[in-house]
Amino acid sequence: MKAATHLVTGAGSGIGAAVARLLDARGDHLLLVARNEARAAVLAEAFPRAEVLVADLADADGLAAALVDRLPDRLDSVVHSAGVVELGPVAEQDVSTWRHTLEVNLVAPAELTRLALPALRAARGHVVLVNSGAGHVAAPDWASYAASKHGLRALADSLRAEEQEHGVRVISVHPGRTATPMQQKVHAQEGKEYDPSAWTSPEAVATTVLHALDLPRDAALTEVRIRPGG
Ligand SMILES: NC(=O)c1ccc[n+]([C@@H]2O[C@H](COP(=O)([O-])OP(=O)(O)OC[C@H]3O[C@@H](n4cnc5c(N)ncnc54)[C@H](OP(=O)(O)O)[C@@H]3O)[C@@H](O)[C@H]2O)c1
Repeated sequence: MKAATHLVTGAGSGIGAAVARLLDARGDHLLLVARNEARAAVLAEAFPRAEVLVADLADADGLAAALVDRLPDRLDSVVHSAGVVELGPVAEQDVSTWRHTLEVNLVAPAELTRLALPALRAARGHVVLVNSGAGHVAAPDWASYAASKHGLRALADSLRAEEQEHGVRVISVHPGRTATPMQQKVHAQEGKEYDPSAWTSPEAVATTVLHALDLPRDAALTEVRIRPGG
């Protein structure tokens, strides 16, 4: 049987890296999105069998030009794991923070999905949107990030309904705090000490993603929430 092909964003760190490692280890074919040539070189070294595509998700306008002719005819999944966070009260967050957060976390996944849809339909593939607890609840200091993740949930819900007739399954994965560089940054911004062992491992989130990808065709996970197991 031909190996499955997956497009993964955020594969250079945290949850996306864990997903890419698990898929790579079982022999699946990977296309990985890196924001620039320097990050592409690092990804190529970490995943020698993968194809690395350079596209800055902070510039959704440029994605079509960056990826044209680089996307395969068939894609078994697109895993959107890239994301950014900047904590702060609405009173202090400027327009550039809002724009950057919404661009990377919401507009780029929408545009990348649009570009990949013909290949996803051809393979009856999956769209995996790595969301967050903040996709359901917006706490103080989390407005820009939570707005992006609420929007990402809306994207997933509309897309799922639209694409069902084409056999494309869409899943929102909502991790709680997960031990990655992003969580380390969040702790620094919260002024808290960071203990990675207190939080879910990126491998556990990645295992959940693979579980969704591996479901038989007669089942679709639509949304999953993950919390630290204690
Ligand atoms: N960690 C948590 O506690 C947690 C909880 C809930 C949800 N999430 C979500 O899980 C996803 C993965 O987060 P993580 O914790 O794994 O974060 P991470 O370790 O900071 O990794 C984020 C990834 O996004 C990539 N990225 C950021 N901006 C980009 C851009 N402009 N163009 C291309 N790639 C870009 C980064 O690229 P580089 O490798 O080049 O830096 C990195 O690979 C995110 O969507 C996040 O919102 C995380």
